[in-house]
Amino acid sequence: MRLVCTASLPDDARLACDILTGRDAAPLLRAGVTLNARFVEHLQRAGVQSVWIDDDLGRGIDPIQVISAQTRALGTRALAGLHEQAKRAVATGRGLEPEATDDLSDVVDAILQEVEGHDGKAVVLADLCGPSAYTLQHSIDMTALGLLVGRRLILEHGWLDYKGERQDDRIEERLFRLGMGLMLADIGKLALPDSILNKPGRLSEDEWELVKTHPKAGVKLIRDAGAWCPLVQSCVLRHHERWDGRGYPEGKLETEVHQMARIAAVADVFDAITSERPYAPAKPTHVGVQTILAGAGTQFDPLICGVFAQRVAPFPPGIEVELSDGRRAIVVSLPEFEFDRPVVRVLSGPGAPFDLSMQQDHSIQIAGWNPVPAALAAQAA
Ligand SMILES: [Fe+2]
Repeated sequence: MRLVCTASLPDDARLACDILTGRDAAPLLRAGVTLNARFVEHLQRAGVQSVWIDDDLGRGIDPIQVISAQTRALGTRALAGLHEQAKRAVATGRGLEPEATDDLSDVVDAILQEVEGHDGKAVVLADLCGPSAYTLQHSIDMTALGLLVGRRLILEHGWLDYKGERQDDRIEERLFRLGMGLMLADIGKLALPDSILNKPGRLSEDEWELVKTHPKAGVKLIRDAGAWCPLVQSCVLRHHERWDGRGYPEGKLETEVHQMARIAAVADVFDAITSERPYAPAKPTHVGVQTILAGAGTQFDPLICGVFAQRVAPFPPGIEVELSDGRRAIVVSLPEFEFDRPVVRVLSGPGAPFDLSMQQDHSIQIAGWNPVPAALAAQAA
């Protein structure tokens, strides 16, 4: 399968993955349908910029989606229910009921299990949704990415206790709480008016100040819910703090911010950039990766950025790229330790299509890609 812009779909392409566009777990279009002109119009009207298709050029390319359609549907249903309860709680000025987050536990367990199953493999984090699905799907994708990075970080470097000392026990419990914190990180946005959340343009200064209240509003909401614990609270309260202290709500610096909240910060920004949002189109995966790496040591914890670079491929299988000699190609597969030198299927020029290993032919680069800084990779090793 391969990822193609909805504006340039080949005739009678077959959809390879479900397309979600709203709060509902039911997709707008299901995998397997042939994309005729009417369906393409539906996709474009829903703001879906690109879709995974099955055709001859994508044959044998098998990207691993970080979470399955089934887990995504489970998560969408659980979060939609939680968001309804959160809106009612906001309206009455109370917190969430103690059992409000019970359903989320199953979702976090399911995501954690899938993340463990992908150990050592490159996974695809490309967006599959329209902008109206952003609020819900962002929480799910941020959780999957945060657990992917968090698991590798803890396995390789342990987790830090409240004294900042390394611990290597109770890893599953740690990851579960991180997952709950990631799922609930933006719950406080339910206290914001829809006119701000879904505003297609730039926010005014006053609107932006209101957005900055969502971490504290989130903590207020979950205080009485069963999922509450200091680690979950830290993710909710601190996922917009920065390594250099220039974040919000309190401008906490470096290790003043809980290690798990520092993971949440990376997952939040990467998923936001690479998702269709009401106010900005999705950017390609490699732009998201470059943004995270460029923020190492200023916006983000450099160690977490290094682990992120080991887990998230800038050019996942199925993505179309331009080679340094101008030819177009699709990424077929990735070597384990050199994500930016994949096997590609060359689509243009003499003899095309054919597969080429960029590990064997070092004269070819991917156009516009700056390799991961060596210092950063060393920090993660
Ligand atoms: Fe947030």
